Amino acid sequence: MLLGIESSCDDSALALTDLCSAKLCWHSKISQESAHSPYGGVVPELASRLHALNLPLLAQRAKDFLGDFHALKAIAITACPGLSVTLLEGLMLAKALALGLKIPLISIDHLQAHIFSLFIDRPLVFPLSVLLVSGGHTLIIEAHSPKDMKIVAKSMDDSLGESFDKVSKMLGLGYPGGPVVERLAKACPPQEALNFTLPLKDHKGLAFSFSGLKNAVRLAILQERERGSLSESFKARLCAGFQKTATAHLLQNLRRHLANSPIKTLGLVGGVSANAYIRECINTLCEEFGCGLLLAPLEFCSDNAAMVARLGVECYKNKDFSPIHALDISPHTYLPYVG
Ligand code: KG4
Ligand code: ZN
Repeated sequence: MLLGIESSCDDSALALTDLCSAKLCWHSKISQESAHSPYGGVVPELASRLHALNLPLLAQRAKDFLGDFHALKAIAITACPGLSVTLLEGLMLAKALALGLKIPLISIDHLQAHIFSLFIDRPLVFPLSVLLVSGGHTLIIEAHSPKDMKIVAKSMDDSLGESFDKVSKMLGLGYPGGPVVERLAKACPPQEALNFTLPLKDHKGLAFSFSGLKNAVRLAILQERERGSLSESFKARLCAGFQKTATAHLLQNLRRHLANSPIKTLGLVGGVSANAYIRECINTLCEEFGCGLLLAPLEFCSDNAAMVARLGVECYKNKDFSPIHALDISPHTYLPYVG
């Protein structure tokens, strides 16, 4: 059995995966969304304190599930990228358990773990193009094998998840913004969505940018406030316009990528990939390109430990262990960028 630990942002999560069959046996998560919601985003120090409270509770639950920890053969721990003060909390638990049980540690890249959310209780599929849309990243990745992955497009400024969160914050709707903005957008008839300019319309290469769109949303809210208070219908039209334009920007990049890539399978991962409108638009695009689409189950789109443990199993097979005294959090992503 392998234990996966995730604490890169505001979710404390543990999972147990069988090392022979790669079957997910148990997983549990304590989310901190309600604690951060009043601030409109994640407050790192608060997140760190809550991990310090929640991770031991989850470890006790894992122990109750197993009877004791002696069945554990390795621990996979998210080491980067993420918030340093929250990554450290997971790392301390991982190191303590690894030392106590005398078992190896496996250092996990959070972005690669999101890709492995596609393979929870499923066989691996490579080669694969991946659109990763989360609170921290907006990336297109070419994954040739678990060991050979390259970032081919990234955001020049904000990530898509962060932009959903900021739109929600500007409307006073709390954190996380994605599900709220999606729900409001759904209430708006498509033809009534506000019009926003498509980001990087004339850009020739592969790249994302969301800060201009976010600013256009801010200006639309200011303008409407000058006329009076924000009506529910305005909020819905604004959210629908933002979601539609941001998705069109994703599609524009994906279209360019798929047209030039020999890879015929696309994976969609990260917290934003739970968005039904985005899933539907990308599904239509894949049909147009004759490309297979892999989606993670909804419960594993946002941060979780099942994806960490799934990647950990592959690393364990390759004896890809990290010396306990050398393993520290790193501010750098392990994935090379070739854009
Ligand atoms: O992958 P994730 O849990 O954490 C990071 O690795 O960053 O992604 C969290 C992000 C948040 O910005 C949240 O607002 C967004 O995913 N999100 C959504 C939806 N559900 C979560 N964005 C759009 N639509 C959703 N339904
Ligand atoms: Zn994530």
